[in-house]
Amino acid sequence: MHTMIRWINRLTQNGKFHPMWIVLAVTGVLIVAAIVLVPARYEGSKEPRQNVAATPRQLPAANLPEPDSGQHDLMQTPHGVQPVHFTPPSERDMPSGELGDMIKLGRNIFEHTQIYAKGLVGNGLNCVNCHLDAGRKADSAPLWAAYVMFPAYRSKNHKVNSFEDRLAGCFRFSMNGTAPEYNSKEMIALTSYSYWLAKGAPTGVELAGRGYPEPGNPPLPPDAQRGAAVFQANCAICHGADGQGSKVNGQYAFPPLWGNDSYNAGAGMHSVKNAAAFIKANMPLGKGNSLSLQESWDVAQFVNSHDRPADPRVK
Ligand code: HEC
Ligand code: HEC
Repeated sequence: MHTMIRWINRLTQNGKFHPMWIVLAVTGVLIVAAIVLVPARYEGSKEPRQNVAATPRQLPAANLPEPDSGQHDLMQTPHGVQPVHFTPPSERDMPSGELGDMIKLGRNIFEHTQIYAKGLVGNGLNCVNCHLDAGRKADSAPLWAAYVMFPAYRSKNHKVNSFEDRLAGCFRFSMNGTAPEYNSKEMIALTSYSYWLAKGAPTGVELAGRGYPEPGNPPLPPDAQRGAAVFQANCAICHGADGQGSKVNGQYAFPPLWGNDSYNAGAGMHSVKNAAAFIKANMPLGKGNSLSLQESWDVAQFVNSHDRPADPRVK
């Protein structure tokens, strides 16, 4: 560097060379580089997207799962549709101040509903029991993917639902409780938390990981008796042989799957298809996608064949 400056000084002192020439030369090189490199990078960024779509069809037949083994790629999107991937912000990037406090309250209500919204809950569950990892986990109906898809028409109640309506639905059915008032602290907190988790996501776009992956039909009609065996082998260790879960210090550490403290008969999880989809992707906890499609449907049928609180819409 030092030698170069001395050399430039010598040239300019000789009067043969004006420093402006160097500036012009460098600018010229940069312009040429930009013209050559930028289109190349643009092409490069298109490459992987095309590969995502092409990969499944290029897999050698030997690597494809056995048909009907239940190991299908559940996240397959219809041909030609590119899934949009999104990662929610990390906990340590939560803002401070009043909005930050509201977001934190929302997270607390979501994770510890029994403590932070006790009066609104009619069973032993917390929101996080079905929306894993504080509502972050893809394929377990994550909040960030839901937030950007409302308002939306729902056939369940034949109207266009606001996001608050959707939250209210889970209070009424999944939590067998009462929906918070729409301008209550609880509702604003849960909305703020969901809004923050969706920060940077496009609105109105179905994000990869929304809801549960479509499970597909099982090879045989679901059967509760086969499901009982799946349950004893894979679920009873945590949820109890009687499906009632277990408590630590008065709170469920393992949530009940049926009975008075579980979701009611109007809940989304009471549809065998929804339960099969949730179980396939998420249970046994930490070993999602280890059950076959048939096992998931059978155990879902078994779980939902037990008594639970009635659907509040049925008089
Ligand atoms: C017993 C399990 C269960 C519990 C507990 C539960 N939910 Fe849900 N939730 C579901 C199911 C099932 C769906 C429907 C998923 C689907 O359609 O793919 C759902 C859907 C949602 C959605 C919409 C997801 C989407 O992508 O459209 C939101 C938001 C939501 N729940 C919030 C909550 C909140 C807030 C609580 C606690 C007050 C809660 N849930 C408790 C099972 C549960
Ligand atoms: C290693 C322990 C463990 C095993 C094994 C396990 N679960 Fe779970 N399960 C949990 C926990 C813990 C939760 C709540 C998750 C949370 O709050 O983060 C849960 C949640 C659930 C829920 C939603 C909440 C509810 O109470 O309805 C269902 C349904 C469920 N499990 C079904 C099953 C089924 C069916 C199996 C067997 C195929 C199974 N689980 C195996 C620990 C387990």
